[in-house]
Amino acid sequence: MSNKNAQKLNVVIVGHVDHGKSTLIGRLLHDTNSLEDGKLEDIKSVCARRGVPFEYSFVLDAFQAERDQAVTIDTTQIFFSTDNRDYVIIDAPGHREFLKNMISGAAQADAAVLVVDADEGVKEQTRRHAYMLHLLGMKQIAVAVNKMDKVGYDPKRFDAVSKECAAYLQSIGLQAHFIIPMAARDGDMLAARSDKMQWYKGKTLIEALDSFDISSPLVSKPLRFPIQDVYRFEEKRILVGRVETGVLHVGDTLFFSPTNEKAVVTSIESWPQKSDRVTASAGQSIGITLSEPIFVERGHVASHEDTLPVLSNVFQANIFWLSEKPMKVGNTYRARFGTNEVRVSVQSIDTLVDTQDLGKEENAAQVVKNAVAQITLRSRAIMPIDGYVENTKLGRLVIYEDYDVVGGGLIDMSAYPDQRKSNNPKSKNIYKVSHSVTPDMRAAMFGHYGGIFWLTGLSGSGKSTLAIEVERTIFERGKNIYVLDGDNVRHGLNSDLGFSPEDRTENIRRVGEVAALQANAGIIVLSAFISPYQADRDRARRAAPQHFHEIYVKADLKTCEARDPKGLYKKARSGEIKEFTGIDSPYEPPHNPDLVVDTAKNDVQTCVTQIVDYIEMNVLIDAQKQTKGNLRVLK
Ligand code: ADX
Repeated sequence: MSNKNAQKLNVVIVGHVDHGKSTLIGRLLHDTNSLEDGKLEDIKSVCARRGVPFEYSFVLDAFQAERDQAVTIDTTQIFFSTDNRDYVIIDAPGHREFLKNMISGAAQADAAVLVVDADEGVKEQTRRHAYMLHLLGMKQIAVAVNKMDKVGYDPKRFDAVSKECAAYLQSIGLQAHFIIPMAARDGDMLAARSDKMQWYKGKTLIEALDSFDISSPLVSKPLRFPIQDVYRFEEKRILVGRVETGVLHVGDTLFFSPTNEKAVVTSIESWPQKSDRVTASAGQSIGITLSEPIFVERGHVASHEDTLPVLSNVFQANIFWLSEKPMKVGNTYRARFGTNEVRVSVQSIDTLVDTQDLGKEENAAQVVKNAVAQITLRSRAIMPIDGYVENTKLGRLVIYEDYDVVGGGLIDMSAYPDQRKSNNPKSKNIYKVSHSVTPDMRAAMFGHYGGIFWLTGLSGSGKSTLAIEVERTIFERGKNIYVLDGDNVRHGLNSDLGFSPEDRTENIRRVGEVAALQANAGIIVLSAFISPYQADRDRARRAAPQHFHEIYVKADLKTCEARDPKGLYKKARSGEIKEFTGIDSPYEPPHNPDLVVDTAKNDVQTCVTQIVDYIEMNVLIDAQKQTKGNLRVLK
């Protein structure tokens, strides 16, 4: 016992109802001598009194009875020990509670046992639970092919069920490290081997569990210290909160989100007694003081500069839906994730997954009870977010309606860019000069004002075609117009950029700045970029708000894919191109565009005329005089 691993391994035991989960747990406790003295005898005597035959699953019922009395706890932690180490089984009374705990992070499992009835094989909940293990990124899985007694310990039957399980797991990207034939009721292949299944040469369940690793603890994750409150004591300002993950030291430079402010930790305060504490780690509530009087308030999050959370007001999540009321696009919910608690609206239901046949539906209208989906959520404010891959504790999402948990899952930040990059200049000693040539003087010289007409839409929606036609038409009418086109700019100024979320954001940032400069110089700029993220287009607008017009070149994915002018959709579907907009990278249509041209419904000439008219109304000197101060009235 003395050289036991000090840490406990958290196991979750899942499987279809009646496939023997409870019996397996009861037997596991018994066979590892982990039951309290007298407990088994108590249960046996209760059974005798009631005239029911004893079953090992009653052991678990006894735990559940204890849990029922403590109404606030809906997970039970059941402990057992092997010669190697201690274990915690995370258990919940029902399917719904179980899912709730798994997604909320109330339960964090290092390993999973999937119990499958040897006679019945893979059933509906076997698949659903396995899918959830996949969503949770569970790496360590043992399959217990239980009730081998029911099939006469037949190796052929075991083989068939093993294959069925392995195939489903593999189809969702999981791997069963061990598939063990078992008769949990009799303890066969649990702790002890069984002479009824001598044909099986692999590990017992206990041996399998003992070979699993414990996940890295929360202290080894990047620091996240969300601020709960700021107190003032005489001269001191104390930032109070709980270290969620990682470790914080006196002397560390903390970086605050979303403000991007920095300061050094000067002390970790304790009260009522003073102490000389210099570190605080995950799980501890502390107060700290800082070297600088920077602006910090409740909700801000401190971390180290090299491991910052992402800042965004939009994110994707893979979720389970638990409510009778379906989740629909446009609905709003209260969401809790990481250190945030905010209202979010459902921007899109990107993929709906049928966990039974793994069928996928794109752009679904709703998610019904028990369904799994990848969705995109949006909030008003920009928040610090950790994806689940980056931080398994903070990357979990719980969705509430009123006070009920209605769904939840794991955050995926791979398709959305970090919006942290600020436009604050890196250099310090720089000063702006003012022009003595005014916009009106330029307009008088050129006969029109500058402007930015920003076309956004899917690849193949017709942006470049329209832009080139509009450019020619307006140029022929004597105006200075120039097209900035995605494919062209990516050959020069942005030749260093690809199509990752960050590169697209940088692409649009640079083009937004170039467009602003050109428009300030009096040029009519017509830009043709997919520009898939609303936040990036909003930033391009902020670079020159007086000039900016957002034009949505509207055509649905099906239409664009049917056109496929460059054959890129085909390549994207076959997997030859990754991160292709509309296929495996998002497109956010404008919320409130200044003009919409619908290329699916109208021909090129109609759309060109619409844009030409719109541009002329906005840049002609007379037109501007009429609408001056209210440029955007022409929506
Ligand atoms: S943006 O997303 O960063 O705004 P941009 O408009 O510059 O994209 O470039 C889009 C053009 O690049 C498309 O019209 C298409 O021809 C080409 N392209 C190549 N790979 C991709 C991809 N993965 N996603 C979208 N477009 C791509």
